[in-house]
Amino acid sequence: MDEIAKIIIGDQTYSYPVIEGTEREKAIDIRRLRSDTGYITYDDGFGNTGSCISDITFIDGETGILRYRGIPIEELAEHADFLSVAHLVIYGELPDRDGYYEWIKNIRQRAPLHTGLMKMFESYPPNAHPMAVLSSMLNSMGCYYPQMTSNNREHDLEHFEDAAALLISKVRTIAALTYRSEMGMPFVYPRTDLRYTENFLHMMFSQPYNRYEPTEAVVDALDLFLVLHADHEQNCSTSTVRMVASGGANLFASVSAGVGALWGPLHGGANTAVVRMLESIHERGDDGSRYIEAAKRGEERLMGFGHRVYKNYDPRAKILGNAVRRVLRELDQNDPLLNIAQRLEEAALSDDYFISRKLYPNVDFYSGLLLKAIGIPVEMFTVMFAIGRMPGWIANWKEVAAAEKGRIYRPRQIYNGPVKRTMLKS
Ligand code: CMC
Repeated sequence: MDEIAKIIIGDQTYSYPVIEGTEREKAIDIRRLRSDTGYITYDDGFGNTGSCISDITFIDGETGILRYRGIPIEELAEHADFLSVAHLVIYGELPDRDGYYEWIKNIRQRAPLHTGLMKMFESYPPNAHPMAVLSSMLNSMGCYYPQMTSNNREHDLEHFEDAAALLISKVRTIAALTYRSEMGMPFVYPRTDLRYTENFLHMMFSQPYNRYEPTEAVVDALDLFLVLHADHEQNCSTSTVRMVASGGANLFASVSAGVGALWGPLHGGANTAVVRMLESIHERGDDGSRYIEAAKRGEERLMGFGHRVYKNYDPRAKILGNAVRRVLRELDQNDPLLNIAQRLEEAALSDDYFISRKLYPNVDFYSGLLLKAIGIPVEMFTVMFAIGRMPGWIANWKEVAAAEKGRIYRPRQIYNGPVKRTMLKS
């Protein structure tokens, strides 16, 4: 028999169906609640609210499982590159051999930017935050593709494949050129013979007189970083993308809003905050224990720890922790911040404050150290997260735009302001 949930309000009982996902997670379907009862639910921060039914990513936060389109992240991290994973996330399948070459070709061809867009970099001040630049450049880019930004769902969906390849390719070009523009360095054009991550590093670091040639270890580490960030179900930025998409806005406007949401230190900005935290601990000569005590008193936050969904070790943090150690070894580097991070992790994992609250390292705890090891400047860390997350945003936009009976996202609220009824004095 199908499961039913009963809600009792006063002397009335209301029944609601229980829906079950393919991984057996359950939800009470309360779509009729307000019309039946006049009541709404209140769930600050949406910790208990399912905003959609999705086919893209599954997380079991209690046991630390993450799968894209049903495939465990550990397998993808080991056997697939970022562009295959992007294809998987967006289209639901890893590409076959021919499909892979076609996909890569599409992405390579789309790397250059329109000269009008290139000129826009000149209008930002040199200290503009790269996330602000990225968000506005992505939205501006849409102006050059009116056929993909009509805000008519059917029409925008006809051009979806083209728009997806464009965004995956050009987000990387915009990111690299933002860095060069802020450093006052001449732009380096993308090449068609380089791998996705290699091309990015080339645009970031090559000089007209000296081509930057990263080691295999660096290219692979960056690729792994992107694979691990490709999607993460209904996080703050992806929910933002879906929210904007639900109003009928085009893909470019939606991902531009996603970048804004990602920027915050509690979300994607945490990778920058972790490295800043480790640097300040190092400068103060603390071995981490003073910082942990301050976090327990509520004076500091242990950045890179805790997660709304994971109440166990984030599987991405495990993979990244190992990758940082491997890359530092391969590059023959020694980063004192890694030692501090390891000490913080050990201390936190054995401290009752963190254990009782189920606070474990999340993806951002080691990702900043990995990016630092491969030479990415700290101010670009959250932009790197955005490049990685682009496939997830695109796939989620499509799910909303292509839904047959999609409704605009429009939560309700409990009003707690004044009750004056009139502006006139009696
Ligand atoms: N350091 C110290 N205490 C913490 C931390 C932390 N990093 N995270 C949560 N707590 C405490 C919090 O003070 C609260 O304690 P109490 O019950 O005594 O009031 C309890 O744990 C529950 O915390 P919460 O703020 O209600 O948890 P949340 O689910 O609303 O927030 C979070 C999740 C990720 C925003 C939070 O853990 C945090 O701020 N972490 C640090 C920032 C960070 O690493 N963010 C990256 C998240 S993963 C990547 C991404 O999705 O972007």
